[in-house]
Amino acid sequence: MAGTARSAGQHRVRRFARALAADPVEALLYVPEELTGRLEYPVDYRVDESWEPELHRLLGAPWPCPQTTRASELWAGIADELRQRGLDFGRHTYGAYSDADECLARAVWCTVLHRRPEVVVETGVARGVITRVILEGLAENDRGHLWSIDLPHPFERGLHDQTGVAVPGPVRSRWTYVEGSSRRRLPRLARELGTVDMFVHDSLHTARNTRFEMDRIARVLAPGGVMLVDDISTHQGFEPWTRAPGGAEALVCRSADREGLFGIVRTGSGTGSGTGGGPGPRR
Ligand SMILES: C[S@@+](CC[C@H](N)C(=O)[O-])C[C@H]1O[C@@H](n2cnc3c(N)ncnc32)[C@H](O)[C@@H]1O
Repeated sequence: MAGTARSAGQHRVRRFARALAADPVEALLYVPEELTGRLEYPVDYRVDESWEPELHRLLGAPWPCPQTTRASELWAGIADELRQRGLDFGRHTYGAYSDADECLARAVWCTVLHRRPEVVVETGVARGVITRVILEGLAENDRGHLWSIDLPHPFERGLHDQTGVAVPGPVRSRWTYVEGSSRRRLPRLARELGTVDMFVHDSLHTARNTRFEMDRIARVLAPGGVMLVDDISTHQGFEPWTRAPGGAEALVCRSADREGLFGIVRTGSGTGSGTGGGPGPRR
C-alpha cells in the first residue's frame, strides 16, 4: 500500500517535471491550483430538477422548446463522428478530463438559439464538443463569434492532436482559438472584447479557477448575459453565485449521467456591462 502511494507520488512528480520543461510558465501557474485544491469541499446545493423550463423562463423563451430535439440530434451526430474516428466519448476519455455532458450541451444550444449572442467566450476545448454546439448555433443564427481559451492537456501531450477534432471546417469561420491557460489569457481577452453575452466554463474545475474565470467575465457580462459553468459538484467555487448577487439568478442542474452538476447564471437585465462594477458575487 505504502509502495503504491510512493509510486503514484513519483509518477506525479515526473509528470510535473515534464510539464515544467515543456512550458515553465503554465506549469508554475498550475501550482497554486494544486495547493488550494486541498481546501476544496462539495456544497450541498439545492438542485433544480426542472432546470430546463427554468432556463427557458430566464431566457424569455417558450417551454416546451422545439430546439431540445435539435440539440439531441446534434449531440448524437457529434458522438457518432467521434466514435467513427476511433475516439472514446464520455467521461474521463481525454486524460482525466471528460467530454462535455449532454445536458450541458442542450443548455448551451438553447442559450445560443434564444439569447442570440454576439460575443461568446468559452474556456476548455478538448475535442471541442461544446465548441461545436456553440458554433452550429451561431451559424444557425447567422450572427456572433466564439473565442475559446484552451490549455491543451498539460500532462498528456499525446492528446494534443485531438484538440478541436469535433469542429468541422464549415463552422470555423466564426471561431478564434486562443491557446494558453485562462489565468494567462482571459483578463486580456475580456478587456479587448469589452462586453461578453455568453460564457461557458469547462476548463480546470478548481474552486480557485472557476471563481477567477467567473469574476473576470462578470466584469464585462452584458445585462441579461448568461454564464454556464460545468462540474461544480466537487468544489465551492460556484456557491457565491447562488446567493443572487446583483439580481443575478442561478440554477444548479444535474448532468445527464447524474454524476455531476453544472451551474447557470443569468445576470439581471438592469446591471451595467463593461463598467468594472458588474454583478460579482457577494463576499
Ligand atoms: C473538461 S475538458 C473540456 C471539454 C470540452 N469543453 C468539451 O466540450 O468536450 C477541459 C479542457 O480544458 C483544458 N484546460 C485545463 N486547464 C486549463 C486552464 N487552466 N485554462 C484553459 N484550459 C484548460 C484541458 O486541457 C481540456 O482541454
